[in-house]
Amino acid sequence: MAGNAWDAREYDEQFGFVGRYGDALLDLLDPRPGERILDLGCGTGRHAAAMTALGARVVGVDADERMLAKARADHPEVEFVAANATDPGLGSLGVNEPFAACFSNAALHWMTPQDTVLRNVRSVLADSGRFVAEMGGAGNIAALDASLRGGLGDVGLEALDVVANHFPTVGEQAALLEAAGFRVEMATWFRRPTPLAAGTTAADWTRHFRAGTWAVVPVERRDELAEAINRRAVERGLRTADGWSADYCRLRFVAIAAG
Ligand code: BEZ
Repeated sequence: MAGNAWDAREYDEQFGFVGRYGDALLDLLDPRPGERILDLGCGTGRHAAAMTALGARVVGVDADERMLAKARADHPEVEFVAANATDPGLGSLGVNEPFAACFSNAALHWMTPQDTVLRNVRSVLADSGRFVAEMGGAGNIAALDASLRGGLGDVGLEALDVVANHFPTVGEQAALLEAAGFRVEMATWFRRPTPLAAGTTAADWTRHFRAGTWAVVPVERRDELAEAINRRAVERGLRTADGWSADYCRLRFVAIAAG
């Protein structure tokens, strides 16, 4: 995955809900024993390991070496490969044997240009291969990103960049999938307001998932920025009596590689 500096331990410990929500997606994929399955943007390997335990032959792919190091340490039984989804043929992964299916959870929104990525996935799948994915959809984390931008403005750091993800509508993603050689069987968008772990604030969320922005904030300005972001996030309704939450919107699809 590109566009963020990942802390793999924090990803699992503080934001473990990302992986846990993806578990339902595995049911949709229904991995079968012996099937060769690509886990695209596998992160720390939770789902690659689950599919391996079901008897699938899984290759977990990620562009981030820190994520892969944790995946390899936690799940030595799984094959993990460093590759960028924009590389032609996904680094030749499908050359010897095409994949029966591709699974991807909370990763595609980091991968641009998306049309190139989808074509690459198609190129490594067998005809009729399944592509089952969940990603951020249109409107995803709009309030969190607006709170970050607002907070940056409040402390005079509005010139700093905030990474832009690919958060499509159902129609936009379906069109990209069809152009890449897939037939879309199902695509759905839904809101998933997500409580953050106890003690994790909206500013903490931005520290992890917008780490590139935070990296260039002078250390002595960081507390001030965190306070400004949290103030903005409260105005946007991200804190209730139950604690902080993230305004996630998901896009989930099942697409079939056209022959
Ligand atoms: C997500 O939707 O999973 C997500 C998107 C961008 C940053 C962090 C998380």
